[in-house]
Amino acid sequence: MKILMVCLGNICRSPLAEGILRKHLELLHLPYSIDSAGTINYHSGSAPDSRAIHVAADNGIDISRLASRQVSKSDFEKFDYIFAMDRNNYKDLISLSSREQHKRIHLYLDFAGLGQKDVPDPYYGNRENFEEVFELLDRASLQVSAKLLKNKNL
Ligand code: 4NP
Repeated sequence: MKILMVCLGNICRSPLAEGILRKHLELLHLPYSIDSAGTINYHSGSAPDSRAIHVAADNGIDISRLASRQVSKSDFEKFDYIFAMDRNNYKDLISLSSREQHKRIHLYLDFAGLGQKDVPDPYYGNRENFEEVFELLDRASLQVSAKLLKNKNL
């Protein structure tokens, strides 16, 4: 199974989501592969934002070697679960994909059972906003990893 995390720039939320969900999946010994991408190409090739790297490192997760890339059409064939960080990302993903690929695309917090809410964009925020995003993604990823474990055992 393959999972793709998607936000706008692929330097703040989706690299954090990738690193955090990877940790939860490893704890459950679930053999999923996980990647992340952005809907824009503006930061392509860049490492995650230093504030995202630091908040992850403070929590024992290394995302420093990830590199931003833009979502491509082939991602909709390759990935089983494509998780959008916010409703704009979701809309963009729906418009880039074919009708039969839509079922692979989910709003991340909704899939986690936390409501049809966005992961707030911390890019123009401060360190505290990155910590809030980390906590939210950690809570969601715990739920999502439990859900994926349950689906696997069905
Ligand atoms: P992300 O945050 O989508 O969580 O990676 C942003 C990164 C870059 C920009 C906006 C949001 N930007 O406008 O360049």
